[in-house]
Amino acid sequence: MTGLTAETPLVYSRKIRPLPSATIELAQKARILKAEGQDVIELAGGDPDFTPDKHILDSISDALFGGKTKYTHPRGIPELRQAIAKKHKKENNIDADWKTQIIVTSGGKQAIAVALMALLENNEEVLIPQPSWVSYDNMTLIAGGIPKPVAAAASNKFKVTVDDLEKQATNRSKVLLFNNPQNPTGQVYSKSEIDEICEWCASRGVYFISDEVYEHIIFDGAKHYSPASNERFAKFVITINAVSKTYSMTGLRLGWLHAPEWIVNKIDPHHQHLITCATSIVQWGALTALETPHDGITKRQKAYSDRRDIVVQLLSKSKTVKPLVPTGTFYVFLDITKTGFSSIDFCSNLLDNGGLALCPGSAFGAAGEGWARMLFARDDNTLKEACGRILSVYG
Ligand SMILES: Cc1ncc(COP(=O)(O)O)c(C=O)c1O
Repeated sequence: MTGLTAETPLVYSRKIRPLPSATIELAQKARILKAEGQDVIELAGGDPDFTPDKHILDSISDALFGGKTKYTHPRGIPELRQAIAKKHKKENNIDADWKTQIIVTSGGKQAIAVALMALLENNEEVLIPQPSWVSYDNMTLIAGGIPKPVAAAASNKFKVTVDDLEKQATNRSKVLLFNNPQNPTGQVYSKSEIDEICEWCASRGVYFISDEVYEHIIFDGAKHYSPASNERFAKFVITINAVSKTYSMTGLRLGWLHAPEWIVNKIDPHHQHLITCATSIVQWGALTALETPHDGITKRQKAYSDRRDIVVQLLSKSKTVKPLVPTGTFYVFLDITKTGFSSIDFCSNLLDNGGLALCPGSAFGAAGEGWARMLFARDDNTLKEACGRILSVYG
């Protein structure tokens, strides 16, 4: 028989790396143990526990039953694009023309993917500071580019520097895929650190994708900085954002991108041929989210900050596991080198003997080896129990 088998080397499949098997195995094992009724705490993923605010859900429901169920303008309903432009000006000091500079997407992830598709020619390189979010590499490969990991030093709190970038860059480097506040390390770059990196991008002709999906999950009075607020940088910065993390709307899939008009025009066909438009009714929910006061954001920010304190304080008692204190996001990155385990073995052993699932640092690239990521977007008791389990397994 001719035709497709599991061994057929499909061109598309060759482009994307298989999901790291050890990490998937761990996640599957945690799910199976839970399904079997075992007491497993799952803190390996990236989904916060809060539900979206009721007035946002009401507006989605109103849109649904009010018949707002047709295709929308491919770039998003004008009302939402206007609200995003207003938000960018007010919160980020970014000038945005809502008609020409914004595309509403199905989550921040789709915004990054279409930006890469539009910017990359075959085999051009994307510089990816590592440890990095797990999808950057594969999105680059799907877009026909080559991911170029740039290891950031643990001694510099995993913040990449111009020296790190300069060592890895070649004349094929086209894009820097930059995330701040940073998943998985929980670190927040300062304005001057970002400016320095943007100056370097300007000098090398490298586009800067600024993934800001955690902008509102930031602690200790730190200020989020958007490089597109600088007129000079705005010419080569693509800003990515989403309602996913800020409003706890992860499954509703709504994000957006902002870029210079000519780049938006290049991204537009990729977006339209892939998804036509973001989900109509969720666009109305996002409009409500952006146009109502920030009470919910402020409340969740305080909760995340308190939870961060609980985890850091409890884990500071450990003799082997050392938390890198996060100043943003809802992840804490744990230095596990003293345990002597690889990050996969550390997590596997913790699941088997403590009933706690964390994400091994190696899932975020080689620079993450010797570390593990713990989600702290859970209630206080769950976090206390989880920290207790780490202490009882590893001391
Ligand atoms: C750094 C980073 N960027 C983007 C995303 C994707 O966001 P969305 O759910 O809006 O697609 C995530 C989700 O975990 C993330 O951690």
